[in-house]
Amino acid sequence: MRTRQILVGAVVSLLLIAPGCIDKGVSFSRDVKPILDEHCLACHQSGEEGYLVSGLSVESYDDLMRGTKYGPVVMPGYSFSSTLQILVEHKADPSINMPKRRMRLSQDKIEIIGTWISQGARNN
Ligand code: HEC
Repeated sequence: MRTRQILVGAVVSLLLIAPGCIDKGVSFSRDVKPILDEHCLACHQSGEEGYLVSGLSVESYDDLMRGTKYGPVVMPGYSFSSTLQILVEHKADPSINMPKRRMRLSQDKIEIIGTWISQGARNN
């Protein structure tokens, strides 16, 4: 009898906890896009210098995933190998770190981008 109550209790708490865990997933539209809009979009949209020189636009998910004229900057699942992540972490040559000529992103913003890439860089 006791055991059954404990089991039921465990199942109920799992059901309560599970949605909270799912919610920890990073969302492109809710979490990542606002960061790109604030810190990157001014230069990385058609007609602006970042786009003109590199070909990278962050106007939409598809634009971002298309990358630069040389290829993708996001490798879904692999934040450490993604150019986007390397540049915002300032792990590249100082002359090409991003955002260009502006302050480095805060650590929590860098982590949001990294987690989104690690979780598959989905259009969610
Ligand atoms: C002040 C303008 C400016 C801002 C703001 C800016 N960029 Fe750039 N970005 C550039 C320019 C210009 C280039 C072309 C390469 C260069 O000159 O360093 C570039 C190139 C890039 C590249 C391609 C590098 C390569 O491998 O060819 C990536 C990726 C990139 N930017 C990401 C970002 C991200 C992410 C942000 C926001 C966090 C950002 N940029 C903000 C101007 C900007």
